[in-house]
Amino acid sequence: MAILGLGYVGLPLATEFALAGFHVWGIDVDAERVAAVNRGDSYIGDVNSAILAGVAAKGLLRASTDPAAVADCDAVIICVPTPLRKTKDPDMSFIVDAVTRVRGHAHAGQLIVLESTTYPGTCEELVAPMLAETGLAVGRGLFLAFSPERVDPGNKRFTTRNIPKVVGGVNEPSTHVACALYSAIIERVHPVSSTKTAEMVKLLENTFRSVNIGLINELALICDRMGLDVWEVIEAAATKPFGFMPFYPGPGLGGHCLPIDPIYLSWKAKLLDVEASFIDLAAKVNAAMPRHVVEKIAAALNDEAKPVRGSAILVLGVAYKRDVADIRESPALDILKHLAALGATVAYSDPHVPRLRLGSHLHLAHGGHVRNEDVTPDMASAELTPERLAAADCVVIVANHTAFDYAAVVRHARLVVDTRNATKGLAGGARVVKL
Ligand SMILES: NC(=O)c1ccc[n+]([C@@H]2O[C@H](COP(=O)([O-])OP(=O)(O)OC[C@H]3O[C@@H](n4cnc5c(N)ncnc54)[C@H](O)[C@@H]3O)[C@@H](O)[C@H]2O)c1
Repeated sequence: MAILGLGYVGLPLATEFALAGFHVWGIDVDAERVAAVNRGDSYIGDVNSAILAGVAAKGLLRASTDPAAVADCDAVIICVPTPLRKTKDPDMSFIVDAVTRVRGHAHAGQLIVLESTTYPGTCEELVAPMLAETGLAVGRGLFLAFSPERVDPGNKRFTTRNIPKVVGGVNEPSTHVACALYSAIIERVHPVSSTKTAEMVKLLENTFRSVNIGLINELALICDRMGLDVWEVIEAAATKPFGFMPFYPGPGLGGHCLPIDPIYLSWKAKLLDVEASFIDLAAKVNAAMPRHVVEKIAAALNDEAKPVRGSAILVLGVAYKRDVADIRESPALDILKHLAALGATVAYSDPHVPRLRLGSHLHLAHGGHVRNEDVTPDMASAELTPERLAAADCVVIVANHTAFDYAAVVRHARLVVDTRNATKGLAGGARVVKL
């Protein structure tokens, strides 16, 4: 089998199939990633290098930039990125490119599965017509299915093997063949009636999270105005044994999924003349959170008669969430950029992210002017020492990595803005301002 796209989704999947005894070709356009896989050198946190090296040494997992290997495969799984264009429309170019590469080597009896998160209708409207150009009948000569990926990077309890997998084919034989493939490595496979249903399942799951996080972020802003501790409110509400599920506020959404996937659904809904009000509203509330954090920091400094300009601000955790190295769409980047634009001296500490480039694509409103050049250069993660904590005018907890010693943070820092409730129950010399 072949797996196209050896990223957060593709590499763990390729490794699992190889461990189950499949002969796996990992195909990626990134030659460095291909070389790393062949060396048995993992660049994805959830894949252990020793395990990767083991399957690579046995020849069970081989990587290449050349899609020709697809010709020898019974099954092909596509796990390429699905980002947004600058205009916030779905960017289907990676899927189109991957399908074009696969199509050139497709043969009768082959199964093709798309795992990339996308709008409902992608397989039927985009992928199937492209595959039909091979002359093979899609659903008979060539099986086609969609199966959403549910990997939760950093989650030790739920991994590829024990997360149930939803599978929907373009017709019953396609569903059947795809279920048979996944059953080899996944404990529970759940078939649905179509590719469109399977595509929608993934968007429901991520929209559910995005909307609930949006709701709780809004509640956090209301609690803030009322002088209430939103964390205490949630903890108490969560004692209700039915009809309530706790979600937590934070500095904003990040990662490849939550800030992006629901927009795929609202885009498709718009084409069908339906307004996805909840999705758009949640996206708006969540996108405003980094700004809110910056305002919180400014207000906290103001209480100590300090302006943001010239203050030393240390951000703890720049990954988009706890215990991962992924900084895609991370709210920490926006927070750092806004603070830098206001004239703060910014630094960060993150054991998972040794270096950081903030980039210059954000136009920073500054003194009434929009300045594009006013960004910090490349930054390196600072080691978290008592001296560094004490020297900062404000320490901001953005990603609550378990590696941080929060007791030391409240002991040595002077002022802490905590966006994750990481300092819950801890006391020290610091004044702690919570989101
Ligand atoms: N990261 C997650 O937690 C997660 C969870 C569920 C679903 N998804 C979805 O899975 C898909 C992949 O996400 P990811 O996080 O693994 O992305 P990623 O950026 O980590 O990996 C994608 C890989 O695809 C490669 N690639 C790009 N174009 C290619 C092509 N034409 N042929 C072969 N390889 C190509 C890239 O070089 C990269 O290595 C996305 O649709 C995403 O929304 C991601």
